[in-house]
Amino acid sequence: MKSPEEMLPQLRVQAEEAAKLAYAPYSQFQVGAALLLDDGRTVTGCNVENLSYGLTSCAERNAAFRAISERGPGAKIVAVAVTNTLGAMCAPCGACRQVLHEFAAADAVITYRIEDGWATRPFHELLPDAFVMKSEG
Ligand code: THU
Repeated sequence: MKSPEEMLPQLRVQAEEAAKLAYAPYSQFQVGAALLLDDGRTVTGCNVENLSYGLTSCAERNAAFRAISERGPGAKIVAVAVTNTLGAMCAPCGACRQVLHEFAAADAVITYRIEDGWATRPFHELLPDAFVMKSEG
């Protein structure tokens, strides 16, 4: 099985393909996310907008919820790729960072589109001091 880092090129392509499926008639901003799970399976998601704009669901959250729906509550995310059809900067929004964090392995890695390529970082760098509910921290 390839390492999460070795899987990043494939995940980027899968995220690009997923973005093409987005339902984004209001913003015209089509986002795609691809997750690598700890069993080697990959899961994708795209943003799905709604006329009642606040009901829009981001690509990353749709991918995370799909991962749990398909794999069950024990699924762990080990790598994430996020992009859009414009090749524009596309780091996950704050809400998606919190949702991804819930299922991310401690050493999960994320790659996301920036104007001239991709930024790749440990996921925890995107959400330092994430909300946790444990007395031992
Ligand atoms: N969007 C995502 O899918 N992921 C993000 O992390 C930020 C924003 C979507 C929501 C909306 O459909 C469009 O991008 C414009 O905000």
